[in-house]
Amino acid sequence: MDGKKRGQPIRGLEGVVAAETSLSFVDGDNGKLYYRGYDIDELAGRISFEEAVYLLWMGALPTAEQVEELRSELTADMRLPQQVYELIRHAPPNADPMVVLRTAISALDLFDPDTGRNTEAANLRKGKRLLAQVATIVASLHQIRSHGVVRSADQGLGFAGNFLYMFLGRLPDELERSVFDTLLVLHADHGLAASTFAARVTVSTLAGMHSAITAGLANLNGPLHGGANRKVIEMLEEIGGPERVEAYIDGMLASGHKIMGFGHRVYKTEDPRSRYLRRFAEELPRREGREHLLEVSHRIESLVFERKGIYPNVDFYSATVQEALGIPKEYFTCVFAVSRTAGWVAHVMEQFRDNRLIRPTSKYVGGFDKSFVPLGQRG
Ligand code: COA
Repeated sequence: MDGKKRGQPIRGLEGVVAAETSLSFVDGDNGKLYYRGYDIDELAGRISFEEAVYLLWMGALPTAEQVEELRSELTADMRLPQQVYELIRHAPPNADPMVVLRTAISALDLFDPDTGRNTEAANLRKGKRLLAQVATIVASLHQIRSHGVVRSADQGLGFAGNFLYMFLGRLPDELERSVFDTLLVLHADHGLAASTFAARVTVSTLAGMHSAITAGLANLNGPLHGGANRKVIEMLEEIGGPERVEAYIDGMLASGHKIMGFGHRVYKTEDPRSRYLRRFAEELPRREGREHLLEVSHRIESLVFERKGIYPNVDFYSATVQEALGIPKEYFTCVFAVSRTAGWVAHVMEQFRDNRLIRPTSKYVGGFDKSFVPLGQRG
């Protein structure tokens, strides 16, 4: 019995190496992020989201022809079976968009021509469809809720442009499109994040791609992961003005609360993604009546560093950037999901190539040798 009880669990699996990957590397000590060996500082602002997707899925940056082909395929896949449009249309009007998205992606497995097939080629086809469909679901949900209609993707627009067009119901200007394109690049993959691990664990049982993306979505929605960007804007709104930051932050810290959008399991220094997002938040014009949010963000950033020595993570300025783009806060985590689907798909394919069931063990802390009491004698 003793042997079975041995072994101390590592809380939160911190520091545990649970998979081998060639997709991305988070260098937490030096505040660096690499996609397939390229420093994110080399890529951000210089590649489109489609190039990042190709890089993650195929292992190399695409030629102009290759990226054009992927762009055109993704645009063509930005449509849904009628039943899934109906499902979105019939979701309760105040249902969390992430819950609608998760449900719709699970439902898409019912209609996918490759359902049940886990070959490399089938996974790539499913991955392309899913990436396009995640974007379409999020955009359509917003349009249905706000105008009762859906917009179709336009072959003349890229992935980022199409998402904004279908979501906002208008063509984005060039600054909006390029900022959003880079925001998608920055969110595409991040080592073994909790949602990525959930996706890999799911396919390690040989469950399919749709199950893995559904698991990833379920996991991402939590406020300790992708759900933090929405909590950030709620915090900024609650604070209201820069003069109230100090009292709010000190109050939160004194009562043992975490400040949303700060801290990271791996980064011990600045998250490189937040540098770009901070700059975008400064560059984009503020929406009327929301001008104070950026100043409040800056004040929070310096105060949290002063008090705790911790930095903003990707979610902190992503909130103000998305806000400035006119994306309602209940969709912030969905936007993260649109981008991260690229990473999940890449990890699913990588897991399938060299799969072994992921099945750790636990330290049992319950009792032993209890005497059974039949139902009629319990009381
Ligand atoms: N606000 C205040 N303090 C924080 C903090 C935050 N957001 N994040 C970490 N800390 C502090 C902890 O209080 C702890 O301090 P202590 O040693 O004085 O007790 C220390 O930093 C380590 O924190 P811990 O909770 O053990 O880190 P973790 O690796 O388990 O958690 C996160 C990582 C991301 C879950 C955590 O930083 C967090 O909850 N952040 C807010 C949610 C968020 O932004 N999530 C998005 C992540 S990309």
